[in-house]
Amino acid sequence: MTKESVRLGTVQETLLIPLYGRALDAAARRPVLGDDAARAMVARIDYDFAKFRGPSLGGSVLRSAIFDGWVRRFLTAHPDGTVVELGAGLSTRSRRLDNGRARWFDLDLPDTVELRAKFLADSERTTTLAASVLDTDWHERVAETGGPYFFLSEAVLLYFEPAQVRSAVQALGARFPGSALSFDTCGHALMSRQDRNPVFRAVDARMTWTCDDPRALEDWGIRLDETRTFATPQPEVGRGWPWRHRYGLPVLARLAPPTVNAYRMNLFTLETAR
Ligand SMILES: C[S@@+](CC[C@H](N)C(=O)[O-])C[C@H]1O[C@@H](n2cnc3c(N)ncnc32)[C@H](O)[C@@H]1O
Repeated sequence: MTKESVRLGTVQETLLIPLYGRALDAAARRPVLGDDAARAMVARIDYDFAKFRGPSLGGSVLRSAIFDGWVRRFLTAHPDGTVVELGAGLSTRSRRLDNGRARWFDLDLPDTVELRAKFLADSERTTTLAASVLDTDWHERVAETGGPYFFLSEAVLLYFEPAQVRSAVQALGARFPGSALSFDTCGHALMSRQDRNPVFRAVDARMTWTCDDPRALEDWGIRLDETRTFATPQPEVGRGWPWRHRYGLPVLARLAPPTVNAYRMNLFTLETAR
């Protein structure tokens, strides 16, 4: 089998970390996501995935499970709704959680989209957008569906400057007020230890945007509806996790709070920019 070569920018390359995490999970005895498509993609990509090690691989799987929980809930309430994944990488969420009715947009930069197109073809309800989350030129394309909308951005905004994150979030709020927006935040306690994280030692990209308290982002004109850590997943999501995560992570959160509590998955409602 001829493998696909990878030519990705510095931040774009980081998509291979959660992809590998999901592939390892799919091969586990009790998978959390069971993302067999991720496993198949890893087998077809010419890349030294084995250089990625450490807890961030499993962490990316738990993170996806928490975002999945919110998307599932949104689709239960709005089966014909539109889910927009910003910086989708090789995420298979639009396939994994599809209900046969929803509209899906997977947005990422052109080089990532070129790689994505080799594995994940668009359909009538699933559209890939080659664009930047920091631009607004794609907003109208998404707005054509009429909503309601669920936006999510997983392990993407952390790579931007604070002013860029704020402006992207406020532009979304101005165009799609009342919509849901979910993204992860990382506090100083973990950010300052990036260079010691084995997955970051294997790539050049570094995260830059630090946020210690997602509630402080309400100043941007967004309302925080839920904030979760790996120790506090939605109950229905946590039930699907192996016991070592389900019971071990809350213990770790008590013994070494910054390790678990500084990294958060958040669900907001977009309000109009102030
Ligand atoms: C760590 S990966 C996460 C990928 C995916 N969300 C996941 O969890 O598997 C970061 C992603 O952000 C994308 N990205 C970086 N800058 C971007 C931008 N300005 N606009 C859209 N996507 C961007 C990268 O191409 C990459 O796919």
